[in-house]
Amino acid sequence: MTRFRYYTASTLDGFIADPHDSLDWLFEQKHDADGPLNYDDFAAEIGALAMGATTYGWIVDHMAETGEAWSYDQPTFVFTHRRPEPIVDTVTFVSGDPGEHRETLLNAAGHRDVWVVGGGGLAGQFAAASMLDEMIVSYAPVTLGAGRPLFGLACDFELVEHGRNGAFLVSRHRVVGPRQPTPVLT
Ligand SMILES: NC(=O)c1ccc[n+]([C@@H]2O[C@H](COP(=O)([O-])OP(=O)(O)OC[C@H]3O[C@@H](n4cnc5c(N)ncnc54)[C@H](OP(=O)(O)O)[C@@H]3O)[C@@H](O)[C@H]2O)c1
Repeated sequence: MTRFRYYTASTLDGFIADPHDSLDWLFEQKHDADGPLNYDDFAAEIGALAMGATTYGWIVDHMAETGEAWSYDQPTFVFTHRRPEPIVDTVTFVSGDPGEHRETLLNAAGHRDVWVVGGGGLAGQFAAASMLDEMIVSYAPVTLGAGRPLFGLACDFELVEHGRNGAFLVSRHRVVGPRQPTPVLT
């Protein structure tokens, strides 16, 4: 059965990019390509991607800077209120609640999983729509003090796997669900 999975890297203080969308803090870390919760094993299980407009824009800018090609074979759905030109024909622009696109994403993924690429706000929207099964985080040994948050919703998780991959503490969490409002004690 298709799972919706948020796979990302974070600082120890819960940021997935610095305030200027830089990932320099991430790329300087050592990792083991065959180690626990590695990217290649995860990517092999992915049939479709969902990402926010800022993340897409970062990838497009990075491609222009480095000359690298678009690196995803799978259909990719970019959540945006705008209609930029797709960089490749596997990119589709969508908007609104993730729940409105559930069937489209499931059909695109086939028997494989959906990678909710991020950012954290979009991952929170998927959780709020009951469309997030797990969150896999690689924590780099760095703090930034400010930046783009890991997750945009108050939510409970259950730790189901953890380990070390190079410099990273890696963890996999089952999404329990959005937190109930804390009752006011009188
Ligand atoms: N550390 C990592 O592994 C990792 C992973 C992923 C991303 N990143 C980085 O983290 C940063 C993410 O930034 P972010 O969290 O601010 O942004 P994001 O989720 O990538 O994009 C947010 C934007 O997406 C659009 N959007 C979001 N939800 C929408 C909806 N339901 N309908 C329509 N449009 C919607 C809006 O843009 P518009 O209204 O302008 O269209 C919104 O401002 C980027 O720098 C990215 O490169 C890092």
